[in-house]
Amino acid sequence: MEPLAVDVATAAPYRVQIGPGVLSLAAAAAGDARALVLTDANVEPLHRERLSGLAEAPTVAVEPGETSKSLGAVEEVLEAMATAGLDRTSALVALGGGVVGDLGGLAASLYMRGIDVVQCPTTLLAQVDAAVGGKTAVNLAAGKNLAGTFHQPRAVFVDTAVLATLPEEELAAGFGETIKTALIGGEELLDKVEAAADRLLARDPDALAEVVAGCVRVKAAVVAGDERERGSRKVLNLGHTFAHAIEHAAGYGRIPHGVAVGTGLALALAASRRLGILEDGDLPARVRTLLERLGLCPTLGGLRSRYDVPLEPNSLVAGLRHDKKGRAGAPFLVVPRAVGAIELDVPADGEALQAIFGA
Ligand code: GLY
Repeated sequence: MEPLAVDVATAAPYRVQIGPGVLSLAAAAAGDARALVLTDANVEPLHRERLSGLAEAPTVAVEPGETSKSLGAVEEVLEAMATAGLDRTSALVALGGGVVGDLGGLAASLYMRGIDVVQCPTTLLAQVDAAVGGKTAVNLAAGKNLAGTFHQPRAVFVDTAVLATLPEEELAAGFGETIKTALIGGEELLDKVEAAADRLLARDPDALAEVVAGCVRVKAAVVAGDERERGSRKVLNLGHTFAHAIEHAAGYGRIPHGVAVGTGLALALAASRRLGILEDGDLPARVRTLLERLGLCPTLGGLRSRYDVPLEPNSLVAGLRHDKKGRAGAPFLVVPRAVGAIELDVPADGEALQAIFGA
């Protein structure tokens, strides 16, 4: 198929190209100047050679996983950029999942006060969400994503052929963000995800490209409307407040983020019903069915048994208060009224939360 293109109308606009094989186009976006490819040790042997045209560019492969989202790793990448002779006209090409994208974006935003980054996401989660929108971050001892910048990419290449090698659980995690984005985007995208579910599970690269492009269109519109998350961009946190509570209560790293987001969507719908906000009474069952079809857990009980974690209501409430997007320790929720109609900044008291987590 021809690549699908989505333009992101941020202050410095850029294009996202989506479809099987688009990584071969990334060299053109990196320009004639020197480029450095940042990847990880899992992705490098699988997909580095797909960046044809960047075959000669030096490569840094960090350790796979969350440990590479550290200030130490940023320093390592910055030193590699300097050693490779990158200058202010150069680009860093980030080939990998969310960790590589966040780390590469942050290093690019710092090197010589900011050079271009070209995002080449290789996980479904990064393709539908993290690689677009310019958020970069690493973790501090005090919490996740506490040190970061906004640094929009020069271009994004979303190659759906690379998803053929993605571990099953990471694919499911990407479906968590996909369903979130469809709930934000509206009926047309949610219908499309439901209709394509079997082909998505079979990793049909064209079906994946259609759905990812739908998600990127939604994300592009949200980001263009509020590049620095002053207000409306918070809609992208749908399911995330609950997901952070789940991850915090389980211990970070026990449950993949996107899987926690999937359950977080079901909890956000339960909260919406309990707080009297939900207008589409059929939506919780519809979302539950889709979550199950795509390998996710619509209930806390399902998560408890799949990951062997206790997830006590008290520790979930504590985790919710810990979420950095809450204000002054009070949890503010993002909950759906209906498909495509999302309420922001919904306050929730402890009693309501206990009831939602205890159900
Ligand atoms: N991942 C949410 C955002 O980019 O705002």
